[in-house]
Amino acid sequence: MTNLNKAAITAVGGYVPETILDNAQLEKMVDTSNEWIVARTGINERRILSNPEKATSDMAAEAVKNLLASSGINPAEIECLILATSTPDKLLAPTAPVVCDKAGLTNAWGFDLNAACSGFLYALSVGSSLIESGRHKKVLVIGADAMSRIVDYTDRNTCILFGDGAGAVLLEPSADYGLQDFILKTDGAGSEFLSIAVGGSLNPFHEDTLQERQHFVRQDGKTVFKNAIAGMTGVCTEITDRNTLAAEDIDWVIPHQANIRIINAVADNLKMPMDKVKVNIQRYGNTTAATIPLCLWDFQADFKPGDKLLLTAFGAGFTFGSSYLVWGN
Ligand code: COA
Repeated sequence: MTNLNKAAITAVGGYVPETILDNAQLEKMVDTSNEWIVARTGINERRILSNPEKATSDMAAEAVKNLLASSGINPAEIECLILATSTPDKLLAPTAPVVCDKAGLTNAWGFDLNAACSGFLYALSVGSSLIESGRHKKVLVIGADAMSRIVDYTDRNTCILFGDGAGAVLLEPSADYGLQDFILKTDGAGSEFLSIAVGGSLNPFHEDTLQERQHFVRQDGKTVFKNAIAGMTGVCTEITDRNTLAAEDIDWVIPHQANIRIINAVADNLKMPMDKVKVNIQRYGNTTAATIPLCLWDFQADFKPGDKLLLTAFGAGFTFGSSYLVWGN
């Protein structure tokens, strides 16, 4: 009997809102310039969920519907949905059940997972374990974030970086292909360098903190930058060593899209030529948990069965990780 003990990505879907926020528009909002943003981040434009009646669940549901339509999978067959997000529709209740409802997944249970920009990798690891254990045969893993809802558009240190979007993958059992290995890490000492100070159990909302705009994302960009390069380089080196893979054995690197200079530095450290590294940051900015699945969605036509992919992410927490994936199903 064939041993179907790996979880393969068998379908991919994505969604980005129609509204574009480009660098020229940001020049009118904060003291910045197109030249500075392109040179320092590699970003030209981002998508914004401009409809105030829509939220993360709507983008996630659209990504799921896109996946189901392109793969012909019946929504009733989906057994579990894991939603990686830092921007749930509400602090309480969870957003995953809303996504199941909006996408017509009548038989799925689901939950949210918050690991910031590493959320998709963490969720992929949990989802693949559900497949490997034999407990489930069809698990959806989504990365979705409406960053425009938590970004301060008067703060030039953050507002130029982020955008909105959602990406989804379907995991199914496979004998030959799929997710081979994960290295996932956290460093809670980094928590203060990228966070929203107010609104959680530590500092509940208060009118004073609202005036001080503390309900928006704040970061120490330089510290995050340095840790992102070191963190992603470390976990990529560890996972390639553990799987006896040389740089030339890897066909594609799918890095979290935070800053083109971070991506270039990690690729350089890994001696990975940039033509193997997938980049779409120029069009979407940093969509937090959605960057990796949006890359898989954008570039899936380039991946051949048997191609070896290296996924890596770094985010608030700090959280970081890598995954080694053999494409195909
Ligand atoms: N437009 C113009 N100037 C800006 C600016 C903007 N949007 N943002 C900052 N500056 C200024 C700074 O005020 C500073 O001016 P000063 O020298 O007079 O003090 C100068 O540009 C350099 O700032 P610095 O912070 O050193 O820039 P940087 O090269 O580190 O780039 C980030 C800033 C935020 C782009 C970069 O640090 C970064 O990408 N960090 C990681 C952030 C990230 O990825 N977060 C999510 C993690 S998943």
